Amino acid sequence: MSKTQLIAALDLDSAAAAFALVDEIGPALQWYKVGKQLFTIEGPELVRGLKQRGKKIFLDLKYHDIPNTVAQAIRSAAALGADMVNVHASGGPAMLSAAAKAAAESEVCLIAVTVLTSLDAEQLHAVGLACSPAEQALRLAELSRQAGLAGVVCSAHEIESIKKACGTDFITVVPGIRPAGSAAGDQKRIMSPAEAARAGADYIVVGRPILAADKPSQAAQKIQDELKNNSCS
Ligand code: C5P
Repeated sequence: MSKTQLIAALDLDSAAAAFALVDEIGPALQWYKVGKQLFTIEGPELVRGLKQRGKKIFLDLKYHDIPNTVAQAIRSAAALGADMVNVHASGGPAMLSAAAKAAAESEVCLIAVTVLTSLDAEQLHAVGLACSPAEQALRLAELSRQAGLAGVVCSAHEIESIKKACGTDFITVVPGIRPAGSAAGDQKRIMSPAEAARAGADYIVVGRPILAADKPSQAAQKIQDELKNNSCS
């Protein structure tokens, strides 16, 4: 297994703020996540600007639509230069297969979101699902694997069960990470970068502990050092 890589979440409201952060961090960090907040206001130009800076982009737009539409969106994301994209696994097997087929036409890494962490058992029941969030997450991870996706977004606490069910090469992209001393904020079940690395995370996604740091470059470097010293060989 390769070492755990850090992805910084650009949860910001303007391209100016995003480029200022990326330029402050500099070559020390390769991967950035662009989500709905920033993409909705700044669009593809922002992604092109990051690519011009040599960065790798996880375009976190969580596609969920009919198979043809999702497949075409993935082709567009790959053409834009996204290195990683995601879909909602709850879009079903036909959508997942169409998405995987579209992703296979390029180098883009396709992963799935299983169950949003904001959905508890009560919320799942309300939309007609009688199982627990953990059972549903595992089921959707297995469906994603069968459809040919590269991996899933999951909590650090789920890495072991997902790797056991889907194989060690099935990629885990893990948010909810807090280095020692950072505020948990709204994240409930947090792990440190070192713990996530030891648990076998392929990527960790970190937002506020980097964005809100006095020196984002130092915060990012500290996390990367922690990953390097604790990753599985
Ligand atoms: O600031 P923080 O480190 O909590 O940011 C985590 C990032 O990962 C945010 O962009 C958030 O939307 C994303 N994320 C998450 N939990 C999930 C899925 C995505 O925190 N289950």
